[in-house]
Amino acid sequence: MSQAVVDRAESAVAFLKEKVKGIPDAAVVLGSGVSVLEGLVDSESFPFLDVFGISPSVHGHSGNVTVGRLSDAADAPLVAVFRGRFHLYEGHDWSVVTLAARVVALWGVKKLLLTNAAGGLNKEYHVGDLMVLTGYRDHLNPELAKTGLLPAIAKATTKCSNALSDQLLKVGEQLAKADKEFRPLRQGTYCALGGPNYETMAEIEMLRRLKGDAVGMSTVPEMLAVEGSGTTAAAVSVITNVWREDEPMGGHEEVLEASKMASKRLDQLFRKVLA
Ligand code: HPA
Repeated sequence: MSQAVVDRAESAVAFLKEKVKGIPDAAVVLGSGVSVLEGLVDSESFPFLDVFGISPSVHGHSGNVTVGRLSDAADAPLVAVFRGRFHLYEGHDWSVVTLAARVVALWGVKKLLLTNAAGGLNKEYHVGDLMVLTGYRDHLNPELAKTGLLPAIAKATTKCSNALSDQLLKVGEQLAKADKEFRPLRQGTYCALGGPNYETMAEIEMLRRLKGDAVGMSTVPEMLAVEGSGTTAAAVSVITNVWREDEPMGGHEEVLEASKMASKRLDQLFRKVLA
């Protein structure tokens, strides 16, 4: 990793420490069209440009960090919400794509909730389902430019269950029991591909044979970036489309619409997990 990039994470943390009193109890990264934890109490927002020195270029990612309390209770947790992220397909390198996650770890935030919009590979899934990641496949690591994709395909799924993902699933179960509107959570394996194009049917078939449940273009770098730090990361995919032979894949606008729809349930889930 170049010195400039290390400095960028360090300067972002220095910026946030100067602006924010106290270290947040949790951080959340929001993917395409995902909108949760609006209306934080005593909140302050900072554009990515001021924090990181760069802005995301993808429609549906507003690109700011909001820090505030979850409620007006005196002991309500302090939460940092990163609205938007950087992707490899925007031309950023791995170090930029992991920037927010490294900032979270360096800042000393103990919990990181990652979200993404993803396509459903599992045929039992429906648009708007929420899937907690219990495993992932990394098919976008820059290492693969040297070795080709075969080693990644040959590798087994990486398991990523931890105390935080277990808690998401437990709280999801409670919410589904108490409220018919709250669809039970899914749990499964997320396959990270480079994009920016959506997959061909042949690629979808390959990922299904590899036992993937959802496919997207993010999140895995961020999970890898906090590994071994004091930060525990868990991730939730919003299933914005389900791949079927006889149904054409919509496009980015449909993905944004489906994300919005599921955001209400995700908001309930995160508020209860973080409270
Ligand atoms: N593939 C990859 N990324 C996605 C998809 C998909 O089908 N849906 C939303 N993000």
